[in-house]
Amino acid sequence: MTRRVYDPNRVIFFDTTLRDGEQSPGATLTSAEKLEIARQLARLGVDVIEAGFPAASPDDLAAVQRIAREVGGTDDSPTICGLARAVEGDIRTCWEGVKDAKHPRIHTFLGTSDIHLKYQTGLSREQALEVIRKAVTLARSLCDDVEFSPMDAGRTDIEFLIQVCAVAVECGATTLNIPDTVGYVAPEEWRETIATLIAETPGAGVGSGVVWSIHCHNDLGLATANTLAGVLAGARQVEVTINGIGERAGNTSLEEVAMALHTRPQFYNLQTGINTREIMKTSRMVSNYTGMMVQPNKAVVGANAFAHEAGIHQDGVLKHHSTYEIMTPEAVGLTQSRLVLGKHSGRHALKVRLSELGYEVDGDALNQVFARFKDLADAKKNVTDADLEALMADEFNKPQEIFTLVDIQVTCGTMGMPTATAKLYNAKGEELIHAAVGVGPVDACFRALDAIISPPKNVLVEYAVHSVTEGIDALGEVTVRIESGGKTFGGYGADGDVIVASVKAYLAALNRMLVIVGYGDVKPEGDAATVGVASK
Ligand code: KIV
Ligand code: ZN
Repeated sequence: MTRRVYDPNRVIFFDTTLRDGEQSPGATLTSAEKLEIARQLARLGVDVIEAGFPAASPDDLAAVQRIAREVGGTDDSPTICGLARAVEGDIRTCWEGVKDAKHPRIHTFLGTSDIHLKYQTGLSREQALEVIRKAVTLARSLCDDVEFSPMDAGRTDIEFLIQVCAVAVECGATTLNIPDTVGYVAPEEWRETIATLIAETPGAGVGSGVVWSIHCHNDLGLATANTLAGVLAGARQVEVTINGIGERAGNTSLEEVAMALHTRPQFYNLQTGINTREIMKTSRMVSNYTGMMVQPNKAVVGANAFAHEAGIHQDGVLKHHSTYEIMTPEAVGLTQSRLVLGKHSGRHALKVRLSELGYEVDGDALNQVFARFKDLADAKKNVTDADLEALMADEFNKPQEIFTLVDIQVTCGTMGMPTATAKLYNAKGEELIHAAVGVGPVDACFRALDAIISPPKNVLVEYAVHSVTEGIDALGEVTVRIESGGKTFGGYGADGDVIVASVKAYLAALNRMLVIVGYGDVKPEGDAATVGVASK
């Protein structure tokens, strides 16, 4: 186990998609999905992956352990970090979670604002300092790499914050992370706060080896601005999430900070290890797994981020892209939608194009995707890169399947009785068929699936359809989110038929819910809903 030492001109990217991001309403992930996301984060080049909160549950511990072993196992792997409250049990469990990584980190925290001390922990300032002393000392006795966060630092009195940071460093913290937990601060003010902390915290100034870190929330839409203000003040670690997902209005977006540093090298003059060409793929994976759609006008990864609508803008971009584009779509991994494949294209051409898009597929996986491609090319003259991306997401970004879609048949129209018949395989490989009537074709389909699966009580909280490309023959992408027992589960589906895409998305959300929470006390009817891995 070793702690990394970084060049002072490098900004360390600490990704907390799997911890703070997963805390956002609607982002519940299976442990297999967490592992896949962690692998993709490693390809993206993040330096530290906060893989979870091991003390939260045995499942969280197991997921962190698996990421530590399978993604953090080699010298050049990212550091794998776990979060722990400043209590002995959490810290020891956290260590169990990360200790098998080549570069493990324990991240412990305590609320330090007067509001948190008074209403949350009931500690006096002196008692808080004592708790921090014990927690950081214990963490450091287990692990070389210890991060401490004074939670709600944005509303903590600066003199006390300096004392807190000094105690944490004295007890062995190697990274001091300063969170604006409630998204309260303003960039100018934050820059000053961070500069003051760096200058005045004993033992943690420039050259001390202590890394200062920034962790911002987006309640006032200022997370990226505040994070960059912190960097300008001397912080060299940024805590971020993919697509900015996180508690409430979310965390700072990784892609926004990475592209700001990348696009303005003369202004920031700082390096990162981020391979920006992996940004779109990572964004898509997180969005598909969480069912949280990226808003079209989202900076860097939104569908409109590189679209030019106004005539004068189109004219300028055609003359030279730099007229209205400060970064190229290719820089974030968006290839131009070149019309390269059609129904006469063969398996090899598909494999080569997918490889150019960053997907290496062979054997059965290639056969599977080739069959989907052929169907699509029959229905749609030109298959674009965006279509291929959607198809790959639909084929491979799926939760473990307890129920598998075999067929769906719908009749609808003006007679007012939309009826759907669904055929699924259950975990035992048995075929199950049910028909249902709904208020519309999608509702009828969802009812037919419910009739087969008898899922735990849930409500549909979001249903969104999006067209991958222009034209009547475009692929439709659907995301749904369902809520059950206070947790939200997302699902994604893509198909030339939006009803089929809707069914796939809803089934993905139901499968994800069953993998994560099972049936609980709800008894499925008959043995149709036996939970396990589908076999045919
Ligand atoms: O926002 C916050 O304060 C946190 C801490 C646990 C770092 O997420
Ligand atoms: Zn946070």
